[in-house]
Amino acid sequence: MCGIIGYCGPKKPAQVLIEGLKRLEYRGYDSSGICVNESANQLCIIKSKGKIKELQKKVSPQLAGTYGIGHTRWATHGVVNDNNAHPHKGCNGKVAIVHNGIIENYEKLREVLTEEGHVFTTETDSEVIAHLIEKYYTGDLERAVKDAVSLVKGTYGIVCMHADEPDRLIGARNGSPLVLGIGQNEMFLASDVTAIIAHTKQVVYLEDREVVNITPTSYVTTDLNDQQIEKDIEQITWELQEMEKNGYSCFMEKEIHEQPEAIKRGITGRLSLEEATAKLGGLNLTTKELIQIERVKIIAAGTSFHAGMVGAYLLESVARIPAIAELASEVRYRNPIIEKNTLYFAVSQSGETADTLYAMKELQRKGATVLGVCNVVGSTIARESDGGVYIHSGPEIAVASTKAFTSQITVFYLLSLLLARLRDMSFENGTKIINDMNSIPAKIDKILAGKNKIMELAKKYAHYPDFLFLGRGINYPVALEGALKLKEISYIHAEGYSAAEIKHGPIALINPDTPSIFLIPNDSLREKVISNMKEVKARKGKVIAVAVEGDKEVSDIADDIIEIPETHELFYPFLMVLPLQIFSYYCALELNRDVDQPRNLAKSVTVE
Ligand code: M6R
Repeated sequence: MCGIIGYCGPKKPAQVLIEGLKRLEYRGYDSSGICVNESANQLCIIKSKGKIKELQKKVSPQLAGTYGIGHTRWATHGVVNDNNAHPHKGCNGKVAIVHNGIIENYEKLREVLTEEGHVFTTETDSEVIAHLIEKYYTGDLERAVKDAVSLVKGTYGIVCMHADEPDRLIGARNGSPLVLGIGQNEMFLASDVTAIIAHTKQVVYLEDREVVNITPTSYVTTDLNDQQIEKDIEQITWELQEMEKNGYSCFMEKEIHEQPEAIKRGITGRLSLEEATAKLGGLNLTTKELIQIERVKIIAAGTSFHAGMVGAYLLESVARIPAIAELASEVRYRNPIIEKNTLYFAVSQSGETADTLYAMKELQRKGATVLGVCNVVGSTIARESDGGVYIHSGPEIAVASTKAFTSQITVFYLLSLLLARLRDMSFENGTKIINDMNSIPAKIDKILAGKNKIMELAKKYAHYPDFLFLGRGINYPVALEGALKLKEISYIHAEGYSAAEIKHGPIALINPDTPSIFLIPNDSLREKVISNMKEVKARKGKVIAVAVEGDKEVSDIADDIIEIPETHELFYPFLMVLPLQIFSYYCALELNRDVDQPRNLAKSVTVE
């Protein structure tokens, strides 16, 4: 949440900052701003409410400078307006900062600073950092930043500049990500690599309580006690082109279409037909340790939680290991009991979600082994987990997660296969799972080829105010995911339920204006779900069914049907979720919503 960037080097900083902010915009998009050294010892701050394009209108392409900082905001403290947008400055206008995170003791600090004569001009928690640095500044910005942050409680990723220290930026992190980019006679600081990949692929990830001091040609990393820290330089594996829309109208559309390729990437080199098993290198567990696992617990948020629920179902049914998925935000504060031989997974596309990260740390603190299932290489969860698996779905920019979901469940199919083959799954059944897995990308392609029919249905239904999404078994989490997708990008109210549950309450909602989307695969629960569908029809509810092609019984009952290819009953989540993503996407278009950047949301939720 919130994107920050800093630049020092020979290019015009304002241009580099704005271009970087556009790439970071998915982290927050209610307001933005930049600060550059317009002339010697003179900082110039430009801010604007709204998207980055509003800021861009205010910034002259001729704006000079040699170093600067920028910010795109997702408001936590203070309303959305130009004034509360970052960067923030102290009283004399010489210090400017951008901040991502939450300063928990800002009220107390603000009170003390006000008593000392500092005048605050915004409602934000972040402004205290600028005033603290100003207070402690005696000609050494790094020192002042360290003195300031040691008084701060909460989370921060900050970048600071001072008018009297040209071409120098200080970055510091605690709980909010910060990455250093090393270029040719230029240096960058940013919340994530997307902001700087156009300029360099050489990066250094900062850890909590580390501070970095950069000039165009140097960087020094220290801890808060001035101890120098040698950092590894890492190479970004993503390509700039992967972060472009590449002819699609928006990132969500592109990412929906990328799913067959993303799944193929997720399984490449990880399936062995010779041994009828999966190979997952990063688990950091011996075969003996894998055999000793008695239960699995999966923690995650949002779409990743739904993927985790599918994962838990698979681990139980395929590998016969008791497994459960839990909301990370709940686990953290429940004083969780760490049971012997329990393996934990933290699932997170971004690898930065605060709820998941802090739950993981709490579990680790109590002795649990937590493995990460992440997309973003080098993200905090990926680095701080005890091992894990990258999903390799490529950058996901749209706020609504799509390809990450199918790639996350891909990893759980592999994991379930691996663990099952170490237990009692036969070679023959392992081979079948591999073959079914390999057939999924082509089946998804087939669904994508039929997207126009789903578009027509979206046009027909987008103006209904409420929806129910109903599925059972392994497709129950898919129903939850379908409802989440619809509400987050189209703002239509939607609820996901197990189809069996509707008679325990939700059926009271059924009326001609509340359509139900039923997920009806060819599986052992099919007849039960058909009964539930009849119950809805009997109460004059409209029904859209997602069912296997040629299912006459279902199409005779439903008002509309979306057909999907047949597959093994465990693999339906891949094929069920696709129509739901496409349906939500077209509903959002029909209602003229901002598909990639829906209101009130941000891609990476780095605050609690
Ligand atoms: O980066 P993560 O996977 O940890 O993010 C978790 C959720 O914030 C995320 O899935 C969110 O629910 C998406 N906007 C859903 O589309």
